Amino acid sequence: MSKDKILLTGVGSYLPKNKTSNHDLAKYIDTSDEWITKRTGIKFRHFVANNEYTSDLGTNAAKLAILNAGLKPIDIDIIIVATTTPDNTFPSTASKIQKNLGCSAISFDVQAVCAGFIYGMTVGISMLKDGHGKKCLVIGADSMSKILDWNDRSTAVLFGDGAGAIILEKEKVKTKFCENDDWGILASKIYTNGNFYDILNTDGGVSKSKSIGFLRMNGKEVFRHAVEKLSSSLLICLEECNKDISQVDWLIPHQANQRILDAVSNKVKLNPNKVISTIADHGNTSAASIPLALDVATKRGKVKNGNVLALQAIGGGLSWGSLILKVGKPI
Ligand code: COA
Repeated sequence: MSKDKILLTGVGSYLPKNKTSNHDLAKYIDTSDEWITKRTGIKFRHFVANNEYTSDLGTNAAKLAILNAGLKPIDIDIIIVATTTPDNTFPSTASKIQKNLGCSAISFDVQAVCAGFIYGMTVGISMLKDGHGKKCLVIGADSMSKILDWNDRSTAVLFGDGAGAIILEKEKVKTKFCENDDWGILASKIYTNGNFYDILNTDGGVSKSKSIGFLRMNGKEVFRHAVEKLSSSLLICLEECNKDISQVDWLIPHQANQRILDAVSNKVKLNPNKVISTIADHGNTSAASIPLALDVATKRGKVKNGNVLALQAIGGGLSWGSLILKVGKPI
């Protein structure tokens, strides 16, 4: 006997070459390494070059994820790109990446800002279950530096650029492995509350002002919502797949602020050593932060076959969500 499972089979990531420290930023904005480190945990972030686009970051990450899964680009049936900073207003950045990869997958973008990767994975999982294909590439890619206002030091120091990608595959798993256990994606919950539209947004947009605008944020409000909503969605997800927090091997959260990561692990009673943090080296890379952190954890040999991973993110919308998966194949 066999069961259909959605498995994570590959991961890859890419960071642009320009690595900028807090000390570098302090040369041209009124800030300090001490303030940024103490309030956020961030030490470095990477920035795209002038001629480097979100699609370039995404393509590089995608190639590595495809290779890591032992596949070729032509094997991919669906490409979903989570991004807030597309190359062009249209077509989708996913179309550009499809062209770069040289395949014919169904390709489109999802926009849920920093929660985009959880949204993209959830959409991809549903499409695989509904028979739109067997292999789905989910990419989180953002060039947040393009929408930062360098006169607003409370937001400009938080963000960076990058991309991460994963492969999800629908596979028949022999019951020898899954008879008494669950493998692959176990639960996913995504939420939106538009009442908080104004606490994290841009002050421009195509239909509003024919400009892209700058990122604006009420940091304290976002912080409060982040801790509460990330904690509750994680616990709901665990309940849905009959697991408790002690069964989570790694929490791989959106990397917004080390203090948010600490507050969430404290609230859900998860050992902080089980939280993957890349915030010091990457800053907040929006939709890219989860797959970037997953790739770092994998390369460090932390993620093992059979591990239960919890992924979670929150961003503008407000949009947020959590996802639980059990690694069913070595990645
Ligand atoms: N460097 C130095 N000082 C700064 C600064 C910077 N980059 N940014 C702000 N400050 C100053 C403020 O002007 C303020 O000074 P004042 O007390 O003289 O008025 C002081 O630091 C405190 O600012 P405040 O905004 O109260 O800090 P905070 O403790 O709330 O931290 C954030 C600010 C943005 C780090 C924090 O609110 C946060 O991380 N929020 C969540 C943001 C987030 O994760 N968003 C993305 C979600 S996807």
